[in-house]
Amino acid sequence: MECKQQLKWLLLATICLLIAGAPSSMSKRDSSCPKENLNITGGIFVLSKGYSHGSLLRYICPNGYYPSVQSCLCQDGNWTSKTKIRKTPECIKITCPNPRVFENGEVSPYKDKYYVNDTTTYSCHSDCTFRGSEVRVCKPNGKWSGSTPICECDSDHCPDPGVPPGSSRTGNMFNIDDKVTYRCESPLTLIGSKVRVCLDGGQWSGTEPQCYADFTYDTPEEASEAFSSSLKSKLAVSQQYEKEDQQGKKITMDQSGKLDIYIAVDASGSIDVKDFEKAKTTIKMLIDKISYYPVSPNYEILIFATDVTPIITMREFKKNEDARNLMNIFKVLDDFNYESIGEQTGTNIAKAYSAILDSMKIEELNNATTFSETQHIVILFTDGQANMGGNPKRKVNQIKYLVTKNDPMREKNLDLYVFGLGDDVNQEDINGLVSQRDQEKYFFKLKDLTEVQEMFNDMIDESTSVGLCGIVWEGLENKRRAFPWLAQINIQHTSSKGSNCMGSLVSSSYILTAAHCFKEGDTPDRIIVKLEKDLIVKVKNYAIHPEYNPTAKQHMGIQEYYEFDVALIQLVTAVEMSFNLRPICIPCTRETNGALKLSDSEGTCRKHEEILMSNELVEAAFTSEMDTDNSPKNIKNITIKLGKYRDACVEDAKKAKGMNVKNAREAVTDNFLCSGGNEPKTDDVACKGESGGATYVNKKGRVVQVGVISWGVKDVCKEKRSFTSDADSRDYHSNLFSEKIRSFLKEHLENDRIGQPLQFL
Ligand SMILES: *[C@@H]1O[C@H](CO)[C@@H](O)[C@H](O)[C@H]1NC(C)=O
Ligand SMILES: *[C@@H]1O[C@H](CO)[C@@H](O)[C@H](O)[C@H]1NC(C)=O
Ligand SMILES: *[C@@H]1O[C@H](CO)[C@@H](O)[C@H](O)[C@H]1NC(C)=O
Ligand SMILES: *[C@@H]1O[C@H](CO)[C@@H](O)[C@H](O)[C@H]1NC(C)=O
Ligand SMILES: *[C@@H]1O[C@H](CO)[C@@H](O)[C@H](O)[C@H]1NC(C)=O
Repeated sequence: MECKQQLKWLLLATICLLIAGAPSSMSKRDSSCPKENLNITGGIFVLSKGYSHGSLLRYICPNGYYPSVQSCLCQDGNWTSKTKIRKTPECIKITCPNPRVFENGEVSPYKDKYYVNDTTTYSCHSDCTFRGSEVRVCKPNGKWSGSTPICECDSDHCPDPGVPPGSSRTGNMFNIDDKVTYRCESPLTLIGSKVRVCLDGGQWSGTEPQCYADFTYDTPEEASEAFSSSLKSKLAVSQQYEKEDQQGKKITMDQSGKLDIYIAVDASGSIDVKDFEKAKTTIKMLIDKISYYPVSPNYEILIFATDVTPIITMREFKKNEDARNLMNIFKVLDDFNYESIGEQTGTNIAKAYSAILDSMKIEELNNATTFSETQHIVILFTDGQANMGGNPKRKVNQIKYLVTKNDPMREKNLDLYVFGLGDDVNQEDINGLVSQRDQEKYFFKLKDLTEVQEMFNDMIDESTSVGLCGIVWEGLENKRRAFPWLAQINIQHTSSKGSNCMGSLVSSSYILTAAHCFKEGDTPDRIIVKLEKDLIVKVKNYAIHPEYNPTAKQHMGIQEYYEFDVALIQLVTAVEMSFNLRPICIPCTRETNGALKLSDSEGTCRKHEEILMSNELVEAAFTSEMDTDNSPKNIKNITIKLGKYRDACVEDAKKAKGMNVKNAREAVTDNFLCSGGNEPKTDDVACKGESGGATYVNKKGRVVQVGVISWGVKDVCKEKRSFTSDADSRDYHSNLFSEKIRSFLKEHLENDRIGQPLQFL
């Protein structure tokens, strides 16, 4: 085996510097690596560039096994590896850390080694109370499922902190100020807190230790769950920041400017543009995820390798109004190219933290009061060991001091997360760089950026986002993800032809549609609702707006009158939310406050209207019927006419068949919105079968329904076989800001007993 151990980091740094500065002819000479003696027992290997210089050899083992050597790099004719190689690489069976350290109870079965899929059960001796998981399974990543089992036998001030598998604990007294210390069995690394202290409040300081093997990774699901629950609580804290005013009344602070997030991404491992693009996409995904929470953070984004390259600094971000728009940050990221980082192969984590520290100092200088009230979150992604710039821990301690000033009350103002990617990461070093708090996780070890992206994808999942409305994913292959609320409705009438309508999922058990889709005598069993593919939903009931009455104005020359043309279909059971199935936001609800990033005190119905409908021309859209993948065949873009444009739009109602009214406003009251025509822009118009569909506005990536498609002046689609508007083809939409429509929705959706009720403002 000629795969030699690479030099330790200090030396390596020097070599890297030499290589970076060396003339290019040096790397061009023939320097291919030997093809012999590379086999791994029980597995295979793959090569990134054959046997040529720079090629990466990766060993792959079957499920349940890990390679004793992860990879080798072909460097100037020799295979080099990060780990010491004593003998032929082999695939070794994955074991989970020793669970027999369980105290005051029994583990069964009692074995020497526990392999993947082995199940253990735990029970306590009598007189002790059991906490944690009674059954744990060894997972393919070398971790036990569930949580540490603990037998609580005495009642001290703090609960028994347990002995996590693979570790040993010293300290058996759990009263105030008592200390417990943990060690992991060799060769496992301790992640979390080595020392925990029993605090006044009856909890332990720090975070429960876990023993990781080199092959132990967090799965994207594990990381996503832990990261999002931790992040969520931070974002919620920064959101709820309240202060007493002079009269002692609690006032909620304006949150903009109170949450500073620093993101640093290691580009030293970005061997090519593709890797680099992936890093940028990851940053975008993270920012995008955070945007789902009702906060508007400030960002600093850094890319680091040997040097640090800021993409945007905290000061720039705060000074620049435009930066607040996420699209603009995304653009800055897009414009930032691979060449800008140059040929840098070092991993200078210390310099990245140093840059963040400098930015924080500037923020503190700028306004110390604001700085002390700000929640600071630092998220670092690295795929290597710190191999230059010294130990990053010193810089991290300086950051801690700057933010907390050693005041325990201010400790919660700082969160330090690290995502370690791949097998070059030194777990122990990184463990010293992250925050440690009870029940929270700040260090995540994942295989690569793809897994990080998967993790972010999982992050807005059902557990974190029940009640989040209007989340859509655009630009993905799965088009349904951009319209998770879309519903298609078919009603078979008893006495006439059936009707096809569109609808929108507005809560987990209600679909909003148009009242005119229904006829006298329709029963729930004759209503077919299509949502996600292959999902069968049953209708329990439907409700039509009590004031909907198509014949109400016949005496005035309006043959068919559509005011309050809204209906709600209630499902028998609530649908399970997923990427493809999620409600649209409707105005004047608390859920929509969140979507519009309004705090509960700022969020009023009027404010929603101001944000969504403030222009004279409001860009909005609705959809056609569904395609085979249950996404819409067409997206129809319109401008809702308000202000000076509205009158002409309403006036055209007179041109509709069966309309013989002097004042068009009799037919199109303020309870309607109006679109269509070609002034100042040509709109799309609705076709048959699109009634009941949502007219929506996309605001900061969240979709809010503002209207329900009701009726139109003429059927352009049939005449022209296209859906671009004529000068006078207008569509009228039931206006969800109408007070009477709102109270109808509120009555049903707030008293939902099947799904999650909505909270109206
Ligand atoms: C290495 O593996 C290849 C393919 O499995 C096999 O053809 C070759 O004989 C092996 N070499 C040695 C030295 O075992
Ligand atoms: C563990 O069990 C799962 C599900 O039964 C199976 O797919 C997997 O191959 C097993 N893994 C090992 C290493 O036995
Ligand atoms: C590569 O191997 C050759 C021969 O074993 C040795 O002379 C040379 O120093 C090695 N190069 C490096 C970078 O280790
Ligand atoms: C700092 O910011 C606070 C709140 O935004 C403001 O009231 C205060 O005047 C500022 N202080 C200075 C020194 O600018
Ligand atoms: C409406 O706009 C969306 C997004 O900008 C676009 O994808 C779609 O094709 C447009 N619809 C039509 C009919 O042009």
